Amino acid sequence: MSRYKAVIASIEPLARTLSKVHKVSIAIFSKDERLLYAGQEGPLESKTTVQQLRKQASISSEFDLCLDGIFISSATIKDTYGELLFILSMARSKESVLSEDIQAELLRSLATTLQSCINYDAAHRSAILELMEKYEELTLLYDISERLEHLPSLDDVADEMLLQVIERVRCKAGRLIVLDEEQQKYFERIKTSSPLVASTLAYDPANDPAAECFKTPITQVVNNPVEKGRLEELAQLHVPICLKKSHPIGVLSLFRMLKAPFKYSEKKIVEMMAKQTAGKIESALLYSKLEMLFLDSIRMLVECIDARDSYTRGHSVRVSYYAVYLARAIGLPEDQVKIIEIGALLHDVGKIRIRDHILNKPGRLTEEEYEIIKRHPEYGMRIVEHIKQLQQSVPCIYCHHESYDGKGYPRQLAGEEIPLMGRIVAIADTFDAMTTTRPYRKGLSQQQAYDELLRFSGIQFDPELAAVFAAAIQRGEFKEEPEAISCFKASFKQTSH
Ligand SMILES: [Fe+2]
Repeated sequence: MSRYKAVIASIEPLARTLSKVHKVSIAIFSKDERLLYAGQEGPLESKTTVQQLRKQASISSEFDLCLDGIFISSATIKDTYGELLFILSMARSKESVLSEDIQAELLRSLATTLQSCINYDAAHRSAILELMEKYEELTLLYDISERLEHLPSLDDVADEMLLQVIERVRCKAGRLIVLDEEQQKYFERIKTSSPLVASTLAYDPANDPAAECFKTPITQVVNNPVEKGRLEELAQLHVPICLKKSHPIGVLSLFRMLKAPFKYSEKKIVEMMAKQTAGKIESALLYSKLEMLFLDSIRMLVECIDARDSYTRGHSVRVSYYAVYLARAIGLPEDQVKIIEIGALLHDVGKIRIRDHILNKPGRLTEEEYEIIKRHPEYGMRIVEHIKQLQQSVPCIYCHHESYDGKGYPRQLAGEEIPLMGRIVAIADTFDAMTTTRPYRKGLSQQQAYDELLRFSGIQFDPELAAVFAAAIQRGEFKEEPEAISCFKASFKQTSH
């Protein structure tokens, strides 16, 4: 509407003068034949005439006609792409002394004025658009740096980066590949709303346009894929992420439907983004590799713990799985979930210090032996409390045998005195102990474990946590044996590069 207003404002003073001096009036119709402006004086004052003119406008955009002795001529105004914008009509009454030629000349010059006004408007708009694009680029780069700054792991960096770029460049899907040259592996993250699309976009080092970027670090824009294949229905933009000019460490790829090809300005913005984030991606890759190394050491330690106690093989991994499930179900943030995952894996680490003949005693434990077993949370705490990366997980280890009613060990804490991590691991630990078959007794069914959990809710277990966990059992969430740890997602695939 602002465009119409600008056009009318530019023509109105002239229209008024023409009406006074030459008894002609001006009307402007939109391309869908709406009357946008009609001169207040002169032959077009009559509503009937305007309506008739409107009818005529719908039949033809450029015309001369005579209505009730009024001679009307019209011209079209187009936008910079040649699309019809307005119809400009000029009417001259019988009393006017203006000749048809002069009227035609007047209409032409008026149309030219309007046209240049519109062209100027378009040029002005394109300058504004360019400015807006620049602003977008700058804010995107600023935002992305800001958002990535506090994300250490490659998973988080990849998720945030893809989220930002998909939103800003308006794509259907995005993918980040990062190469770990040392180990000949690659990290892959795909972001899309459709799981079907995600499987199509999986990186194939042998047959993927992105692989070209690793050989020659030049952006690949594939707006018309010629090769038949899994990506044939998508316009693609593959941008190498280079630390030095010729050393690609990854490729950022974006995908869209073919009807919306990638533009030069979009290629430029994604290239700038790749350049801006290269350093961050490299440090995130190193961090994730260290994190995986750390987790591998934990896993080895956990295997040692489980191997000590012959009745509990796989127990620690399962407890960790249940604890992570419960932590997420109550909405704990992911950094807390990671701490709980490690803590739950190591919850029985203190058993390393308990002698075999007590730990693996086939018969009933004496009171003295039981007292020794009860020391394992404290032993565990002592083992890990000096390791910086494990300190936050200590409550899982030290408090997993506390009971909600205050009758647990080692400190007989009650209710919310017991750290939340301890209350979570207590449920996970007991659920696994109940449902696992031991040589001396058969494991309980899920339904029996569910009943037990509710029976001891508020006695041994935090009632709120027990309710959440019980609901998950009821939904059948734990029917299958949990396989692996879920928090440390960074997974690397073997590459042929
Ligand atoms: Fe324990």
